[in-house]
Amino acid sequence: MQVTVRALADADIGAAREVQTRAFQEHDRSFGDPVVPVTAEVVERQRGRLQHFLTHDPAGSWVATVDGEVVGVALALRRASLWGLSLLVVDPSVQSRGVGRQLLDASLTYADGVDTAIILSSRDPRAMRRYAAAGFDLHPQIHAEGTVDRARLPASRRAVRPGGADDLAFADAVDVAVRGAPRGPDHELLARTFRMFVVDDVDGRGYAYARSDGRVVAVAASDDETATALLWECLAQDADGERTVDHINAAQQWAVKVVVAAGLRLAPAGPVFWRGRTPPRSYLPDGGYL
Ligand SMILES: CC(C)(COP(=O)(O)OP(=O)(O)OC[C@H]1O[C@@H](n2cnc3c(N)ncnc32)[C@H](O)[C@@H]1OP(=O)(O)O)[C@@H](O)C(=O)NCCC(=O)NCCS
Repeated sequence: MQVTVRALADADIGAAREVQTRAFQEHDRSFGDPVVPVTAEVVERQRGRLQHFLTHDPAGSWVATVDGEVVGVALALRRASLWGLSLLVVDPSVQSRGVGRQLLDASLTYADGVDTAIILSSRDPRAMRRYAAAGFDLHPQIHAEGTVDRARLPASRRAVRPGGADDLAFADAVDVAVRGAPRGPDHELLARTFRMFVVDDVDGRGYAYARSDGRVVAVAASDDETATALLWECLAQDADGERTVDHINAAQQWAVKVVVAAGLRLAPAGPVFWRGRTPPRSYLPDGGYL
């Protein structure tokens, strides 16, 4: 099999999106997880992500092809001195034949010279193996899901306000303090796509994003108490419905306390890998934009 690894191009976006879908559907099936249906909204989000990386991180955006067909994709971002892997997928028809390794190696060239790097791994043993072999430290994670028991919402909550386009410089300042690098253009996309919440008072500052379907996208705050207030606010939105909180590791006991108090179920998830530092405490990263 002759594999070519080259830069992602605009014309690849449709095929790259399909590889992403096939790879994760196969991953979910192999773990007995429910397979996420590909709705028009999901397609839009996948396309938007590929387009965003092509625009802002062309040097971190790669595809692998065989006979001219896209069979793998890697997307990585670089913000100040932080590198993050957003996506690594290989079509199930050619997995376990070295394509993922080649894509990751290409993508890591974009990390040359950075201080810190993050990868949110799936549970695929091939992915975990390569990330650990690339010098990243593994930190186990859980995720939480279920319906929030509204009787357990804290009686008095810290003042959290809706955020928006005017809060992006503030949010970047939080990011620099929390993880050493701003999100820059990622905030524009996140604030456009998701609900944003902000805390900015004498006790601390932070922000969160949540999806309208109840998934908490990201939390970043100066301290655990502020992160706790933001996570409760995300969980308290809308009266009914399922909530999901991803990417909780052992440094984030504040988040474990919140999801347990809210009545959500805990389940093992893929680990987070960091290189150059230990995981920030008051920070729940986002799978796509970290
Ligand atoms: C994870 C994934 C990208 C890896 O790509 P791949 O082309 O299948 O993997 P590779 O052939 O490059 O193998 C990667 C490593 O796993 C090892 N490996 C291969 N098959 C394996 C298997 N069945 N079990 C365990 N390890 C295996 C390889 O030996 C290799 O390690 P090495 O380079 O030290 O020898 C791909 O399988 C995939 O798309 N999985 C589903 C989506 C996913 O989970 N993506 C990762 C998101 S973080």
